[in-house]
Amino acid sequence: MIAYFNGRFMPKQDICIPVDDRGFLFSDSLYEVIRYYPGGLFRPNAHIRRLNHGAGHLSLACTDFSYLIPVAGDLIHQNQLESQDALVYIHVTRGIAPRNHPFPVPTPAPTIYMGVSLFDTSAKDRQRKTGIHAITVPDIRWSRCDMKTTGLTANVLANQQAAENGADEAVFVRDGVLMEGTHTNFMAVFDNIVTTAPLSNYILGGITRDTVLALCRHLGIRTSESPIYENRIHRASELMVTGTTTEITPIVALNDQPVGNGRPGPTARALQDAFTEHLSF
Ligand SMILES: Cc1ncc(COP(=O)(O)O)c(C=O)c1O
Repeated sequence: MIAYFNGRFMPKQDICIPVDDRGFLFSDSLYEVIRYYPGGLFRPNAHIRRLNHGAGHLSLACTDFSYLIPVAGDLIHQNQLESQDALVYIHVTRGIAPRNHPFPVPTPAPTIYMGVSLFDTSAKDRQRKTGIHAITVPDIRWSRCDMKTTGLTANVLANQQAAENGADEAVFVRDGVLMEGTHTNFMAVFDNIVTTAPLSNYILGGITRDTVLALCRHLGIRTSESPIYENRIHRASELMVTGTTTEITPIVALNDQPVGNGRPGPTARALQDAFTEHLSF
């Protein structure tokens, strides 16, 4: 099968994508599947419009992929599929850069892949005649934050927004509750009680979070795994984020408002010291 990869037509099996590609690392990517009926592509402009829409919102280096429509036609032709039912698959990623959440600087060229395949319509044809069975499921899309999946588009966009606002981390708020950072867990100190979101499908159970809660117990600091409400956050004396690379990092300003006296607080410092002491290998 001949495929298209970054401006070249080549055998599909010869295509190699570096592991630093953001599509691989973060699912920082978009795709389209276009149906080819013998005689023509079905609404290619609509597919490209949707791809452009996503590329614009993701701020990819290229946001107009209309040139891919004739490329799709070429691929159908080169693979002798003109008189067949076929599918055109397009996959665009932000490109290749060392792993880091915000958009890479300088902006990499997107990775652009297009492949075609024969589409055996017989099963679908049958289903259209007989009908199908379906089930209902809770809509968990974007809601399984407890799994450390590589589907990190939301984290990337939030982290980039933080960077564009001169901040270092973004804390996700869901229904008025501060949940966690883009790559960290979030903690607030209210009346000397270290409070963090309870484990649920809405946060990642951080190893560091767990360590910090244990260190609190060791130090005799009270803890609470309970919701941190946005409308109470101004009452926190300290805020911090925790994570593998972050360890325990105080937040000294949230949305440009100083936290406490605008300097790292005593609880964070005590926990940092205890964490360092705890690091005995
Ligand atoms: C969304 C999110 N929350 C929390 C964490 C912190 O987890 P850990 O302490 O295991 O690094 C991470 C780490 O990558 C993360 O991506």
